[in-house]
Amino acid sequence: MGEFIGLSVPNLSGNERKYMDEAIDSEWVSTAGPYIPQFEKGIADYVGAPDAVACQNGSSGLHLAFLELGVGTGDAVIVPDLTFAATVNPVVYCGANPIFVDCDDTLCLDPVKLREFITEECEHIGGRVFEKSTGFRVAAIAPVHVFGNLCDMDAIMDVAEEFKIPVVEDACESLGSRFTSGRYAGMHSGTVGDIGVFSFNGNKIITTGGGGMIVARDPQKLAHMRYKSQQAKDDAVRFIHNELGYNYRMTNIQAALGMAQLEQLDGFIEIKKRNYELYNRLGIELLPFSLDRCNPNYWFYSFMTERREELMSKLAERNIGTRPIWELMHRLPAFSKYRSYRLEKSIYYHKYVLNLPCSSNLTEEQVHTVADAIKEILGK
Ligand SMILES: Cc1ncc(COP(=O)(O)O)c(C=O)c1O
Repeated sequence: MGEFIGLSVPNLSGNERKYMDEAIDSEWVSTAGPYIPQFEKGIADYVGAPDAVACQNGSSGLHLAFLELGVGTGDAVIVPDLTFAATVNPVVYCGANPIFVDCDDTLCLDPVKLREFITEECEHIGGRVFEKSTGFRVAAIAPVHVFGNLCDMDAIMDVAEEFKIPVVEDACESLGSRFTSGRYAGMHSGTVGDIGVFSFNGNKIITTGGGGMIVARDPQKLAHMRYKSQQAKDDAVRFIHNELGYNYRMTNIQAALGMAQLEQLDGFIEIKKRNYELYNRLGIELLPFSLDRCNPNYWFYSFMTERREELMSKLAERNIGTRPIWELMHRLPAFSKYRSYRLEKSIYYHKYVLNLPCSSNLTEEQVHTVADAIKEILGK
């Protein structure tokens, strides 16, 4: 068996140890300390946002985002069927009901079906949108930039603005992806909607072990999310809490790791792009990122094959890590009571996609190894 080639493993080859040692030496290891505002500023500057709020993970960031937009009991939130459960869980934490809408060929939320759902399946009363069959108010739309590809935000924001529905961009996988055409050309994922959330989980393009970051168009909303993430403490001496709070703040140790990772982000994207192109040149045709719309961060590579299950297990025998797409949201027992709308492409892509090794420390030689193994197994 050859060396293990992981699917998406952290690349900790910079100043990680140095900055974390500094944090430990300073004894600022918890939810206060200088690395937290530095990392917030670093990410805000990188994505071109005025400010950012660092939190425990992408999930807690999404939870704060939905709360901030007033999502609650009796509401519905439109989410893609093809995503990770962490997009949907926070909707349910708020007491609201997810509605699963199909993806398009970019694997991201289909704006045509989104519009169709809002116009045909909803009633429009007093400037608000209610799902006809349940009476749930459609309180938010949560597009997900799947695998670092970017949603058609022009079309999604057209719908959102026309029907005055706030947008939470789940940018957990797309840090570094930016639009190159359309109304948002030059802007980063996460900065287009009302609120955007990034994740720094271990498999993301940069990691803080676990961590997340929130950006928002409205500085007051962002400040309020920072307050909620720190237990909504109004008086740090007498511990007065005027609102319900959450212990969602990032720690200084996580932020130290994040600063070291952020220094390398552009380099990681370059390597991921190089390896993506190399796979294609070697005859392993990966799903295209929508290059007419964006410069993606090339986070995850998707290969389509009818022999997906066989390929996955034979690559595992050769110590090569791969993964199918997440089970679709409408099929998860946890979400079985929620509605879905016109699912076709999510089902199609779910059946055939296999994600291939894509770490930012994957060498060209390892790409050759994976490509050769795939060709051999599939007899290409
Ligand atoms: C699409 C998507 N949404 C949300 C999350 C949640 O992020 P976290 O794991 O940091 O809670 C992730 C990553 O894990 C993700 O891939």
